[in-house]
Order: sequence, then structure tokens, then C-alpha cells
Amino acid sequence: MALNVLVTGGAGFIGSHTTVALQQAGYQVVVLDNLCNSSLAVLQRIEQITGIAPGFVQADIRDQHALEAVFQAHKISAVIHFAGLKAVGESTQKPLDYYDNNVNGSVQLLLAMQQAKIKTFIFSSSATVYGDPQELPITEQHPRSVTNPYGHTKLVVEDILESIYKAETGWRIARLRYFNPVGAHPSALIGESPQGVPNNLMPYVAQVAMGQRSTLQIFGNDYDTPDGTGVRDYIHVMDLAQGHVAALHYCQQQEQDLLTVNLGTGQGYSVLDMVRTFEEVSQAKVDYEIVARRAGDIAACWADTTLAKQKLGWQASKNIKTMCEDAWRWQLAMTP
Ligand code: NAD
Ligand code: WQD
Repeated sequence: MALNVLVTGGAGFIGSHTTVALQQAGYQVVVLDNLCNSSLAVLQRIEQITGIAPGFVQADIRDQHALEAVFQAHKISAVIHFAGLKAVGESTQKPLDYYDNNVNGSVQLLLAMQQAKIKTFIFSSSATVYGDPQELPITEQHPRSVTNPYGHTKLVVEDILESIYKAETGWRIARLRYFNPVGAHPSALIGESPQGVPNNLMPYVAQVAMGQRSTLQIFGNDYDTPDGTGVRDYIHVMDLAQGHVAALHYCQQQEQDLLTVNLGTGQGYSVLDMVRTFEEVSQAKVDYEIVARRAGDIAACWADTTLAKQKLGWQASKNIKTMCEDAWRWQLAMTP
């Protein structure tokens, strides 16, 4: 019998791609999302791709009654928790919104799970918990440090999960630390839809290539990296989605466990690498100017992926060119 999985934030960027991957792996998905950063259309698009409409509940993870109702209506075996706010800059302006959504929201969800006796939980953490890396590649043992409220919410929820794991037997928890998710489903039916000016590099580059924005500002070319621009471990969102399926399989096989694992490719690319690859695949010019470093940015960051291979039997397979091609196809499809 197919296992039912609750995906919070399943209408969002990573959640929608993971819902597709879960359905294609034979799971039945119920999405719970308040649509604060996504739209209903995404659910129809998921159905178009997989031929299966996921269950959908429009609700907030802080709404205990809604959670109770979902757990009563569906026999949920596991929860994959994406719902939350994710803009680093905004988190410094509105810290309480971030602590309420991301920390209180996770606590409310976990309380409802505890009551419903559901003990399999996969959490969207972030490489941001490593702060400015002391060593590359970054292993899961690297000390954690954060410099903004968003990062702090991830760190706190990681700690809450550890406390629960120590306090009660039977929990199967995966804390997945994503590096830089980019790209889109190859069908161009789902992808990332940033509201307003994109904070992240890839959607910004795509909008410049499209002619929607005139110039990319590159935040610094004086870092200690091969070409002076920032280096990151970009990972295709479909690879990331498969990483969640692998983590769920892993959890199902354990009696109890607390797994913390990096999801990245293990390879770093600079801002200029990204610009050049995007120009090549789109055949469009990406004009840029070098400006001052962005506050809080680090020079370079990429993952040690050994543990993910060892524990999950998972590794990323899509290269930077495919990431840019799929992001470009999505950008073209989104533009009227
Ligand atoms: P997203 O904004 O596209 O998706 C989040 C979804 O959660 C949205 O559909 C939103 O409507 C929903 N949501 C937010 N608050 C909610 C609430 N209180 N109740 C119910 N639904 C709510 O973001 P994403 O990029 O898909 O990120 C998913 C998760 O992964 C987040 O927790 C994020 O912090 C984490 N993460 C993202 C990145 C990244 O670069 N995208 C990197 C590391 C970690
Ligand atoms: C990548 C590179 C920038 C925009 C952020 C969060 C992190 C995680 C992923 C959630 C850097 C440069 C960018 C631009 C640029 N999210 N850049 N011009 O900063 O690595 O990570 O998203 O957990 O927490 O901090 O990603 O895409 O913003 O930047 O030059 O207009 O591109 O300086 O070197 P980042 P990014």
C-alpha cells in the first residue's frame, strides 16, 4: 500500500519538485501550504507532470486545528517540512516573523505529530548554518555559526530536533542541509517564482538574460577565489528532490535515527562561471557590473558529499549547464 506523506510548503520551489519526485516514487502526497509565497496553480502543474493530483490543504503550520484535522483525515506516515520564510535580508528587518514562522511553526507541527504518533520527520536545513567556512569542502562536523535571524531559525530547529530525539524513542529524523538550489523541472511547468527583485543569483541572471532587468550587479570580485567572485555549490532542484526521496527511504529503514547530511554536488562555481554558462545556453547577453561586496556574504562554500553517498546512496547528477538550461526554459515559459 502506498505510504502517505505530508509535505508542508509543498506548493513552494523545493516542495513542489519534491512532491513530483515522491509521487513518481510511489508515495501519496498531501500538501499543506498557506500559499504566502506560492500559488494554487502549482498543484495543477504537479498533476500535469505526474498525472496524479496531490491532496491539498490550504492552512498554516501554526494552526493546530488544521494539523489535527489533516492527521485525522489521512493516515500520514512521514512529514517533510519545507514551510517557512527564507529571505536572509528580510529576516534582519522582521526577525519576529521569522522566529514565529520557522521556529514556532516547526514546534506546532512537531506537537501535532507527537499527538498523532507520527515520528518520521525530514527537515529543510541549510548550509547557512556553517557560517563562514573554516575548511572546504564542508563536512557535517563543521562547527555551526550564524549571523542572521534566518540562519538562527535553522540552527534552533536543528537543536529542537536533537532534543526530541534524545527525549523520546522511535523518532526517525533527517536534517538536510541544502547548499544552493537552482534550476527547474525540465518540463518548465514548475520552477522558482521570486516575488519582486530576486535575492538569489540564478533567477536574477535569468531575468537579465530575458531583458527584464538591465544589469546584474556582481557583489565583489576581490574574494580569495580563482576569479575573485563568490563561489557556491549550486545544486539542481530535481537532484535535491531525489535527495528527499532517498532520505525518506533511509528513515523508513531505521528503527530510530537522527541523521544530519549535506545535500550539494561537492563542486563550486563562481558568479562569473554562472554568467558565462547562462549566456551560452540562452544565447543571450548577461550584462553585469562589479559592485561592492554584499554584507554577510562569504567567499566560497561547497559540500563534502561523502556522507550523503554513504548513508543515502544518493548523489547529485545534473551539471551546471543543465541547471542553467532548465532555469532558462522555465524563465521563457514564465514570460508572457
Ligand atoms: P518557498 O518560499 O518557495 O517555499 C516555501 C513554501 O512554504 C511556500 O509555498 C509558502 O507559501 C509556504 N509557507 C511559508 N510559511 C508557511 C506557513 N507558516 N504555513 C504554511 N505554509 C507556509 O521556499 P523554498 O526555496 O522552496 O524553501 C523551502 C525550505 O527550504 C525552506 O524552509 C527554506 O528555508 C529551506 N531552504 C531553502 C534554500 C533555498 O535557497 N531555496 C536553501 C536552504 C534551505
Ligand atoms: C550566490 C552568489 C553572491 C545575487 C542564499 C542564502 C542561503 C541559502 C541560499 C537558504 C554570491 C552572488 C548574488 C546578485 C551576486 N538560502 N550574487 N549578485 O548568498 O550563497 O545563499 O541562498 O537557506 O541561506 O544566504 O546565494 O544566490 O544569493 O548568491 O553577485 O544579484 O552570487 O554574492 O556569491 P547565497 P545567492
